[in-house]
Amino acid sequence: MNSDCERILLDEKTIQARVKEVAAQLDKLYEGRKPVVVCILKGSVVFFVDLIRNMKTPCELDFMAVSSYGAGTASTGELKVKKDLAADITGRDVLIVEDIIDSGNTLYHLKKMLNARAPASVNIVTLLDKPSRRQAPMEPEYTCFEIEDEFVIGYGLDYTEDYRNLPYVGILKRSVYEK
Ligand code: IMP
Ligand code: MG
Repeated sequence: MNSDCERILLDEKTIQARVKEVAAQLDKLYEGRKPVVVCILKGSVVFFVDLIRNMKTPCELDFMAVSSYGAGTASTGELKVKKDLAADITGRDVLIVEDIIDSGNTLYHLKKMLNARAPASVNIVTLLDKPSRRQAPMEPEYTCFEIEDEFVIGYGLDYTEDYRNLPYVGILKRSVYEK
């Protein structure tokens, strides 16, 4: 285990098993359709890759970079679009793949923005959800794991751009961000 990690919250096996389950649910939802699956960079990239590899539904892939966060651990409530979609999503089924929903501000604003482009549907699948932290009215259609109010790293998730390539989700030691 990484020495900045307090403990492992979700190990590799647990994550992979749950991702498979959710991929099967999404296959059912999108049967006979071809969604645009959107990876929200950078935190979702690991989850996104594992999810699409487990989905049998034909799909298009697209990428967006947005943030409501600065370099630290607190949300500003503002949405910055750093990279927009390449695809025209008018009339398309859109599946947003997110790493974690915390305040809900990022996805609340993002969903509103994408809905304004007249897609056929917008659904959200998130690896992690911290429902106790919610500020915006935002409920994902699919959640792999609900977690307590802890700052987590790994499996794509970072703290100041570190730890994204850890194969598990771990709780970051408070001493790392309180020093
Ligand atoms: P929200 O707008 O507050 O829901 O923030 C969502 C974004 O904040 C996520 O996409 C992450 O980038 C980041 N975030 C929130 N909680 C954590 C965490 O525990 N670890 C790492 N990043 C987090
Ligand atoms: Mg992030």
